[in-house]
Amino acid sequence: MATELHRQVNYLKGELEKEKVAGESGDAAVRVRSLTRSFDGRAVIDDLQLDIGTGEFVALLGRSGCGKSTLLRVLAGLDREIEGEVLVPRRKAVAFQAPRLMPWKRVWRNVLLGLPGRPGRAVAERALTEVGLGHRVDAWPKTLSGGEAQRASLARALVREPDLLLLDEPFGALDALTRITAQQLVGELWQRRGCAVLLVTHDVEEALLLADRVLVMDGGVIAHQVRVDRDRPRDIADPLLAELRTELLDRLGVKAPEPAVHKVA
Ligand SMILES: Nc1ncnc2c1ncn2[C@@H]1O[C@H](COP(=O)(O)OP(=O)(O)OP(=O)(O)O)[C@@H](O)[C@H]1O
Ligand SMILES: [Mg+2]
Repeated sequence: MATELHRQVNYLKGELEKEKVAGESGDAAVRVRSLTRSFDGRAVIDDLQLDIGTGEFVALLGRSGCGKSTLLRVLAGLDREIEGEVLVPRRKAVAFQAPRLMPWKRVWRNVLLGLPGRPGRAVAERALTEVGLGHRVDAWPKTLSGGEAQRASLARALVREPDLLLLDEPFGALDALTRITAQQLVGELWQRRGCAVLLVTHDVEEALLLADRVLVMDGGVIAHQVRVDRDRPRDIADPLLAELRTELLDRLGVKAPEPAVHKVA
């Protein structure tokens, strides 16, 4: 296992390290030790520890500007100006809030963009079908709706067959209905693919419906976490989820709204 990682992210070259991480059941997909990332002398991530098990779905909450995207970029290998130790699978993929499709390439070519080797169109078609976009394979990105573009972005992540899927507020720009469909899709994809997921979101309910574990980032570290011990599909009206929701909102410094009282005149 690679261990010495100052100012550098170290990636496993072969298969994932089959190491038990203390406190976690199963193997590790992500192992972060004493991670620090500073901008202009200010540590946005400050001695952070994090483990994600193989196939585990983890949601990451935190106030705006607390460092969630910074952490995701480090795990994705897009930022190597770090101190500490970061172990991630070789195969990982990221989807951001904005789908970032190239307007001059058809959807299927966007899906294959940057993939090593010379994967054929059929590979893109399979992934697009998996996200319900089999009928838009030849479309131009500008003709896609917001939800479709986001699904194309997910397909682009899936063709990488990731062991770790990093999602940075992927549903943030979607309307409420499309968002629910997209959440269900991610839940299904995760169950089918079995990859580890780290989902950054501002939506506490989304986190509780999807994740095995919900983390709260604050002060440059993972300041709080809850485990969501419920089978799926989940019901947000479940008393356990309501209790966890209050706990998480409290940690985020938001007072949970009182349940509505219905009065009959
Ligand atoms: N390249 C950079 N140069 C300087 N400062 C940066 C850089 N990238 C991020 N920061 C700062 O680091 C802090 C954390 O940013 P980050 O984008 O990780 O926050 P976030 O938790 O994702 O917020 P949000 O919920 O609003 O997306 C912010 O104060 C931001 O201004
Ligand atoms: Mg962010």
